[in-house]
Amino acid sequence: MVNLTPTMAPTQAYLDTLLLYYEEEIEGEAYFQALADVAKKPDHRNKLHLLAKVERHAASATLPLVLKYRLRPRSDAELLSSGQVQARMTNEPWESLLADMALTYPGYIEDFLRLETMAPPEDLPRLRLLTAHETVAIAFLDLEISGAPDSAAPLEAYLKEDIIWE
Ligand SMILES: [Fe+2]
Repeated sequence: MVNLTPTMAPTQAYLDTLLLYYEEEIEGEAYFQALADVAKKPDHRNKLHLLAKVERHAASATLPLVLKYRLRPRSDAELLSSGQVQARMTNEPWESLLADMALTYPGYIEDFLRLETMAPPEDLPRLRLLTAHETVAIAFLDLEISGAPDSAAPLEAYLKEDIIWE
């Protein structure tokens, strides 16, 4: 049987954005990892580790698309060092770090949703996993800022979501 469903050719803007966002998740993992390394409180360290893992999970969800389109990300070494530099420039107490993230992250959701609107439909399941990592990060921030004891639960639930490999 021939599949007659027309497939939408991805635009260059879509491919460029996909690659950029993939790279940003790898940088994000290095960023949170570096912040975790210097965190004084074990509770903060654990939560930063979880955020790093969520970034990696989002990157892994997106990687099959990067490979499918033969995109060429910057090297892991370069992305790692860029994330670490960003972490060194972040010298904030826990509360203001959270407040900054809570201010910035809703904008990222809009960016990810915009990427979804540019995507061929077959890419959407993976892109939704990418978008979801920001949703759970915001859910974590809301809970953590309000002092909820189980603030990490949305992050932990996200990490249990299976990644679809080809
Ligand atoms: Fe991220």
